[in-house]
Order: sequence, then structure tokens, then C-alpha cells
Amino acid sequence: MIDGLKEQVDRIIETFVAESGSIQTVDNLRSLKEKYFSRKKGIITDFYASLKDIPVPDKPAAGKLINELKTRIEEKLAVQEKEILSRAERASDFTLPGIDLPIGHAHLLSRIREQIEDIFLDMGYEIAYGPEIESEYYNFTALNFLENHPARDEQDTFFIKDFANTILRTHTSPVQVRYMQTHKPPIKIISPGKVFRKDEPDATHTPVFHQVEGLLVDKGITFSHLKGTLELFIKSFFGKDVNLRFRPSFFPFTEPSAEVDISCFLCFGKDPQCRICKGSGWLEILGSGMVHPQVLLNCGIMPDIYSGFAFGMGIERIALLKHEVIDLRMFYENDLRFNSQFG
Ligand code: DAH
Repeated sequence: MIDGLKEQVDRIIETFVAESGSIQTVDNLRSLKEKYFSRKKGIITDFYASLKDIPVPDKPAAGKLINELKTRIEEKLAVQEKEILSRAERASDFTLPGIDLPIGHAHLLSRIREQIEDIFLDMGYEIAYGPEIESEYYNFTALNFLENHPARDEQDTFFIKDFANTILRTHTSPVQVRYMQTHKPPIKIISPGKVFRKDEPDATHTPVFHQVEGLLVDKGITFSHLKGTLELFIKSFFGKDVNLRFRPSFFPFTEPSAEVDISCFLCFGKDPQCRICKGSGWLEILGSGMVHPQVLLNCGIMPDIYSGFAFGMGIERIALLKHEVIDLRMFYENDLRFNSQFG
């Protein structure tokens, strides 16, 4: 009889140890207490009740076994209660030091965009935005691209299936058109944003990248204004020791057009092996020019009264040069070891 009882007690202890091991909250603890000690169906309570069926000679030994079981369970529950309560107390003690959360920072590309914006905002420019899904008209036609210009090819540009003449914009220049069509000069804007081209990703190309466009239209604007503006921008951004040079170029929407190079800020043209200018001493940084009279006309602005300049630069390219990043794809990989270097 006693042996059977002892086995039962052992099994109860085994179950209790497992159950009490998973207790986390005051509620868990309360239900476990209920399970063992409730007046109605508590396991220990029932045990005491069953004592009456035990033969008299065995009663003292049986009583002792049950008392020991009861004490063990009570003690263990008391220890756990203390632990849970002190944990809860610690959690609401506002004088304890807080948990450190890592503080993030903007992505390098966002920071470069903001730096460019700040320089132009200081010069009195406004920021204008345009759609990323664009019509061929705004992206090409209004900007004086001929009907057979290679950029219009499906090889180079993403066309939106089932929507005629609809593409992902290949540059931020269509914002010029949208802005000139809806605003009267004087106009002084920059337009940052995403652009899309069908390029295979490699160290210097990705199918999505970012540009900042600039446009100024007013009476009497000349190439000198363009030169002075870009000089101020470049010296503010790269440092006052950096020089500029303009190389003749071609864009359908500007005439004359110029590519702008800056002197190499790493070797200043002195290192034939320089890892960023490759010894040439110059780095190509942006495209620019005087707004083509046809573009002004397309936007309802009279070229005999008004003139303007425009420029466009790639944010990735500038970030790449400024921080000597060797592979453009790293900007998009969300690798914190890379991103956090620019905090
Ligand atoms: N849209 C040109 C490109 O994506 C960049 C550019 C060149 C913009 C000359 C301009 C400009 O506004 O005047 O390559």
C-alpha cells in the first residue's frame, strides 16, 4: 500500500518539476497553485482526502509522505514567486539604466542627396519632383530627342507593357519640362530622384540609380551664370581647392552643351597611378548646357525673351568618387558593415 503511494508521489513530483520549470508570469504561477492546492480539485487536497481510505496502521507513514510532498511543492512555488516578483519590480524600476538601442543613420546616397539639396537651397533654388513612370513625350520628345534617337530603343529603356508611349524615366530632365509648362520664369529648381535604364548590373552600372537635375530660366541668363553656379556648388561640395573644366559635349536639350570635370581631389593630377582619376587628373562629374530654344518653345517660354541653363548629375557616381567605393552595387546590398562606415 505504502509502496504504491510512494510511486504516486514520485510521479507527481516529476510532473510538478516539469510544470514549474516553464513558469514565466504571476498568472502561470497562480494556475499552478490552483492545480495543486485548490479546495475543490487540487491534487494535494485530493490526496489528503484519500487518507481516509488508507488502513489505520499505514496512516502515519502515508500522512508523512503527503506532508513532505506538500512542503516540497510549497517551497518551490514560494521561491519562484519571489523570482517573478523581483523580475517584475526590476522591470518597473525607472532608476535602472535603460537598454541601449543601436542608433541608425541615413544611407550614404540620401546624405549626398541632402548635401546637394542644401547647397542649392542656400542659393535660393526650390526642389521639384516628377513622376518615375513617365511618357515618352516628357522624357524624350519635349526635350528635343529625335524620333530615332538610340535612347528611345527598347534595348536601353524600360517600356511599360500594354501602355503605349509609357516608360520608366531614363533621367530627371523631364521634370524641367513639367515645371516650365506649369510655371512662369524666373525658374530656379533642382529635382532629385530615381531613374531607370536597361543596364546589366556591374561595378559601375545598376538599372536603378539617382540623379539631381538643375534648371534656371530668367531674362539674360548666360553661360557665365552656369559656370559660376557650378563652381560654387563643386567647391562647396568637394572643397575649395578643387578646380573645374568644361568640355564641349552634346545633349539634345541643351545648346551649347558641356561635360563638367573636376580636378582629382585625391592626387591633384600628381599620381600617374591614382586609383580614382587613373592618372588623368580629372573626374567627369556632370552634364550641363544652355537650355535649347526648342525646349523653351515646347514649354511655352519665349526664347527671344528668356534663356536658361540646366545640369544633371548622378548621385551614385558622386558618392562613388567622394568615398572611393569600388563597386556601386554595394549601395543596395543593405550590408551594415558597409553602410555604417558612412555614419
Ligand atoms: N539628362 C542627362 C543624362 O541623364 C544629364 C544632363 C545633361 C542633364 C545635361 C541636364 C543637362 O540638365 O543640361 O545623361
